[in-house]
Amino acid sequence: MLRKAFLTVLFLHCLVLSLASSSSSSEEDDGSSEQEGEEHKKSHSHHWGYTDQATWGSVFTDCNGKSQSPIDINTKTAIYDDSLPSIKLEGYDLTDSPALTLLNNGHTLQLSLPRSMQIVSGFDRVYHAAQLHFHWGSVEEPGSEHTIDNVHFPAEIHVVHYNSKYANLSEAASKPDGLAVLGAFIGIGLRENENYEKILSALTDVSVEETNTEIPGFNVRHLLPNSLERFYRYTGSLTTPPCFQTVNWTMFNDTITVSRKQLAALEDTLKMEQNQLLRLNFRAPQLLYGRRVLSSFSASPAQLSPKIVPLTETDPNNPRVRASTGGLAGLSRGDILAIAFGGLFAVTLLAFSLYAYQQRKKKFQDKKRFPSECHL
Ligand SMILES: *[C@@H]1O[C@H](CO)[C@@H](O)[C@H](O)[C@H]1NC(C)=O
Ligand SMILES: *[C@@H]1O[C@H](CO)[C@@H](O)[C@H](O)[C@H]1NC(C)=O
Ligand SMILES: *[C@@H]1O[C@H](CO)[C@@H](O)[C@H](O)[C@H]1NC(C)=O
Ligand SMILES: [Zn+2]
Repeated sequence: MLRKAFLTVLFLHCLVLSLASSSSSSEEDDGSSEQEGEEHKKSHSHHWGYTDQATWGSVFTDCNGKSQSPIDINTKTAIYDDSLPSIKLEGYDLTDSPALTLLNNGHTLQLSLPRSMQIVSGFDRVYHAAQLHFHWGSVEEPGSEHTIDNVHFPAEIHVVHYNSKYANLSEAASKPDGLAVLGAFIGIGLRENENYEKILSALTDVSVEETNTEIPGFNVRHLLPNSLERFYRYTGSLTTPPCFQTVNWTMFNDTITVSRKQLAALEDTLKMEQNQLLRLNFRAPQLLYGRRVLSSFSASPAQLSPKIVPLTETDPNNPRVRASTGGLAGLSRGDILAIAFGGLFAVTLLAFSLYAYQQRKKKFQDKKRFPSECHL
C-alpha cells in the first residue's frame, strides 16, 4: 500500500523531471529523485542522512527487509561456485566526447553513464550502465560500505546497471531482477591514480550540493580493478533509501588504489546541506538472514587443505628456514638441525590441532548460524 503510493509518487516525479530537464540519467542508484515528491506527504523524509540510518526503515519500509546491503563478506564462509559466469563488459571505452555529467547530489559524487556501456555476459540478460558513484569516510575512518572479514576499506565504487528488459533505471529499480551493481574497494597506494584523477580533478566544480559539471568521457573500465575474474556475488539492495531489494551484487576481490592525496580530496571537498562536509556516506553492514555469499574463486589451496608434508622439509630456499639458520650462527650444524626439526614438528602439530579445532567449530557454527541470525 505504502509502496504503491510511493511508486506512484516516484513515477510522477520522474515524469516531471523528464519534462523539466533533459538530463534524465542523473539519478542515484536508489532512484532517490523521489524525495522532493515524497516531501509533500511525509515532511521529514527528504532529509535522510547517514547519521540517522537506524530510522530509514520508518519511512522506507524496505530498509527493514531481510536482503539488505551492504554486508560483511566473510572470506572463510563464502561459497566457491565454479559455475558463476565471468563478467564481460562492453562499451566502457568511452571517447572524450560526448561529455559525462558529474553531480554532487548531497549524498554522493555521481557520474552519469551512457546505456551503451553494458554488462554483456555474467547475468541472464544484458544490463545497461546508468551511473557510478562512491562511498567514503574521513581521514580517521575508512568508509567502504561492504567489509571484508569485518574490515572497512577507505572507499568503495559502485557502477550501477539495470536490466535491459526495462526502459530505464527508475523503472528497473523496483523490479526483483532490475539491477546489477559492480562494486570494488578503493585503498591507498603510493602513486596517483590517473584514471581516478579524471573525476577527482573536477571535484571543486561540484563542491556545492546539487551542482554538476561536465567532464570529458574516458575509459571507465580503468576505474575498476585489473582483474574482474575474482568476485563475490550475493543478492541485496540499494544501500540508500528506498533500499529496494533488487540488486544482484558483484564485489570484486581485486582492489583499486588511489593516492592519499586523492582520497583526501574526495573526503574534504564536497559539501552537503548546511555547508557540512559530505563524508562518511556509507551504510553499516546489514544482517544476512541466511543469504549465501558466493565466490567465483577458491581461496588459496593452503587455506583449504593445510599440507603437512612440505612443512617437514628443510628447503634451503624457504625464507623461514634461511632466516632461522642465519640467526643461529654460533651453533653447530647438528644443533641447528635439531632445533629446526623440533620447531617444525611443533609448528606442524600446532597447525594440525588448529585445523582440527576449526573444522569442529565450523561444523558447530554451520548448524547454529541460521537460527541465531533469525533472532537478531
Ligand atoms: C544474479 O545473477 C546470477 C548470475 O546470472 C543468477 O544466477 C542469479 O539468479 C541472479 N540473482 C537474482 C536474484 O537475480
Ligand atoms: C522510465 O521509463 C518509464 C516507462 O517507460 C517512463 O514512463 C518514464 O518516464 C521513464 N523515466 C525516465 C526518467 O526517463
Ligand atoms: C580476496 O580474497 C582473499 C582470499 O580469500 C582474501 O584473503 C582477501 O581478503 C580478499 N580481499 C578482498 C578485497 O576481497
Ligand atoms: Zn552505492
